[in-house]
Amino acid sequence: MKTITKTEKETIDFGKKLAKTLKGGDVLLFYGELGAGKTAMTKGIAEGLGIKNKITSPTFALMNVYKNTSIQMVSRERKKNPPKTNSPLTKIKKFVHIDTYRLKDEGELIEIGVEDYLGAPDTVCVVEWPEKLSELLKNKKIKKIKIEHQDNGRVIIV
Ligand SMILES: Nc1ncnc2c1ncn2[C@@H]1O[C@H](COP(=O)(O)OP(=O)(O)OP(=O)(O)O)[C@@H](O)[C@H]1O
Ligand SMILES: [Mg+2]
Repeated sequence: MKTITKTEKETIDFGKKLAKTLKGGDVLLFYGELGAGKTAMTKGIAEGLGIKNKITSPTFALMNVYKNTSIQMVSRERKKNPPKTNSPLTKIKKFVHIDTYRLKDEGELIEIGVEDYLGAPDTVCVVEWPEKLSELLKNKKIKKIKIEHQDNGRVIIV
């Protein structure tokens, strides 16, 4: 499926909608050149999952881990408004943003504990520049998304 976005906000909104279709354990791979909008889309995913923190690119940190604080709000409202069993908010407790741009090899990510998160049933991961990963992605629930420049906007291919 192809979607065209004309502005950064439209890309963020696309990410927000996409977030609603995700399940714990999903690993999203964002392909696209420098400045394509991978981080913009990541911001939308995080917002859609209920992450309140500001998302900044982990280009040097390699990996940022966010906890889903809206889980508490859901449970406070639980009596009045019980969450659907399949509601992503009941299952997704962590959101992990990985950027391999400055990565030497997969070993560097393993050293900082990436395996605790990749594919974990309560966690959604986004990977920018996933071309550098192979072993780590084996047997994971992968969703590939490509973002390309087109005129003044972007084409998102899911
Ligand atoms: N339709 C659009 N969608 C997303 N970003 C857009 C769009 N149009 C213009 N932009 C601009 O493109 C840039 C996208 O930056 P972003 O950091 O998201 O890219 P990236 O793919 O993560 O790059 P990098 O590989 O450097 O991490 C922003 O400056 C944003 O304002
Ligand atoms: Mg980026």
